[in-house]
Amino acid sequence: MRSRSPEETAVLARFAQQYQQSQERAMLEIERNVCGCDYGSTSWTTQDEADEASAFLELAPGKRLLDLGAGSGWPGLYLARRSGCDVTLADIPVEGLQIAARRAAADRLSGEAWIVVSDGANLPFDDGSFDAIEHSDVLCCLEAKISVLTECRRAICSAGRMLFSVISIAPSLSPAAYERAVATGPPFKAVSSDYPGMLARTGWRVLRHIDVTAAYAAAVTKRLEEEEANATVLIEILDEAGFAETIVRRRRTAQAINDGLLRREVFAALAAG
Ligand SMILES: C[S@@+](CC[C@H](N)C(=O)[O-])C[C@H]1O[C@@H](n2cnc3c(N)ncnc32)[C@H](O)[C@@H]1O
Repeated sequence: MRSRSPEETAVLARFAQQYQQSQERAMLEIERNVCGCDYGSTSWTTQDEADEASAFLELAPGKRLLDLGAGSGWPGLYLARRSGCDVTLADIPVEGLQIAARRAAADRLSGEAWIVVSDGANLPFDDGSFDAIEHSDVLCCLEAKISVLTECRRAICSAGRMLFSVISIAPSLSPAAYERAVATGPPFKAVSSDYPGMLARTGWRVLRHIDVTAAYAAAVTKRLEEEEANATVLIEILDEAGFAETIVRRRRTAQAINDGLLRREVFAALAAG
């Protein structure tokens, strides 16, 4: 197993805590109002985006989908329910995957669902195991981006399709603006953010590259409004300090997006060669 930096370990511990809090009624209601789903999601993928992903990935009964960094099951379980495909959910924090396992059982999916604790940089699957791969705001939450893209390429079948979203720092910022961008948004957005270059180097051909920053800005603003409106109940869930920290972080992120420092993109790619 590859060793993780203390920063990566801390990020994973934070996700584990978020998944544990995510199933509270108020959290699920906020998620529904912001992203249109109620899985306990930690990405900014909306239901509309997930529906577009389903079409691009050509999901259907018998197709094998890998949702990498699947957390508590969004959007992999939704895509499986919608399309009837088989799904494998892979992530590191068991707290999220346990929630996903319960949801998979409750949803009575028509296809198969497997849940695997696994590092995306070292996938425990044979070559060509999947027809489609999806990951939502995952590469910006880890350091080993090239290793993960290489592993995805190995694990997908010939002419398989991958779709993912990432948050990154806008290009050509002044040093001060760059520092502000680094201080907000997801943890490893500043580590190697040349996604078109990384995809080409790891055997992927980009078919579509879509800027979804406007939808990201709208979702962050909506989430902030919802959290402020539900302060009393959120303080019970997150405690006083956790709530205050969430609101400060959210305001900083909203401001950074509106100032053009952060962007969110979707890449749709085909296994090349
Ligand atoms: C922004 S969350 C997205 C989770 C979920 N897909 C969703 O949309 O709610 C990013 C996820 O990537 C996972 N992750 C981070 N580093 C990882 C790694 N090296 N291998 C697999 N998953 C990883 C985190 O644990 C987290 O669940």
